[in-house]
Amino acid sequence: MLAALVAALTANAQSVDPGVGVNPKAQGATEDVTKTTGPNGSEDWLNTGITGDGWNPPFLALDDIYHVSLDDFYGSIGSPCKQYDQYFQSAGSKYGVDPVFLAVIAMQESSCNASAGGPTPGLMQVSCDNYPNGQCTDSIQDNVDAGTNYLESQLNSTGGNAIEAFGSYNGWFTAGSGLNNNQGLTESYPCSSEGQANGVPQNLDYLHQVMNGWLMGLDVYGAQNWIGSYQCDQSCSDGGKC
Ligand SMILES: *[C@@H]1O[C@H](CO)[C@@H](O)[C@H](O)[C@H]1NC(C)=O
Ligand SMILES: *[C@@H]1O[C@H](CO)[C@@H](O)[C@H](O)[C@H]1NC(C)=O
Ligand SMILES: *[C@@H]1O[C@H](CO)[C@@H](O)[C@H](O)[C@H]1NC(C)=O
Repeated sequence: MLAALVAALTANAQSVDPGVGVNPKAQGATEDVTKTTGPNGSEDWLNTGITGDGWNPPFLALDDIYHVSLDDFYGSIGSPCKQYDQYFQSAGSKYGVDPVFLAVIAMQESSCNASAGGPTPGLMQVSCDNYPNGQCTDSIQDNVDAGTNYLESQLNSTGGNAIEAFGSYNGWFTAGSGLNNNQGLTESYPCSSEGQANGVPQNLDYLHQVMNGWLMGLDVYGAQNWIGSYQCDQSCSDGGKC
């Protein structure tokens, strides 16, 4: 009872300052993380186009993204990821990607549970096509390499746009992909019949949760679960958009 009350009070504190300042390259950025804004730009900016004629992501290079240090992430909300550090380090140096991004993606995707199942198993939750021989294996290193390979292939094909690459990790797409009448992702797509037929609906809070939540060391699935204006349960029930 008391614990529930404390949790409710904590959940009601709906802003937090991760102390990283404001990213000058992001629009609508705020020092505090709130339901709809944060140091890496507002959710509206990250999601540009989804309430109109389709997602048209703004540009932010991976190196320009603000984040807490890997040690701070492991020392706080990312503690379940720490045991896999060697795999993030190895894939990071193989692909030239800062391992903090890999640990954060693993946290968002599987809560850093290497036993997580589903059609895209493991820490990084990417499809088997991304594995060395196009086949899933039980190796944690293969799994982290596959996720990193996917992230890098998306960075390569978007001219280095981290916003677009992170979005694609959650099934976001831009105009010309053939989906959604060849428009980019729109707000109405995840729960449309086409969107649902394509699998798990896209999480419309994904970019805000990754950029301004996990990368700031916040607990997007716990105390800071108020981050995001859509609050998807990925069931498309109750009139939710995702
Ligand atoms: C978000 O902004 C912070 C502070 O400006 C920066 O350190 C971090 O790298 C940015 N992260 C992303 C994902 O843009
Ligand atoms: C990890 O995922 C497996 C498979 O879904 C589940 O059985 C296990 O309880 C999970 N571990 C934790 C720590 O949540
Ligand atoms: C990304 O581009 C670099 C440079 O062209 C290339 O060496 C690398 O293999 C590409 N990575 C992926 C995963 O396609």
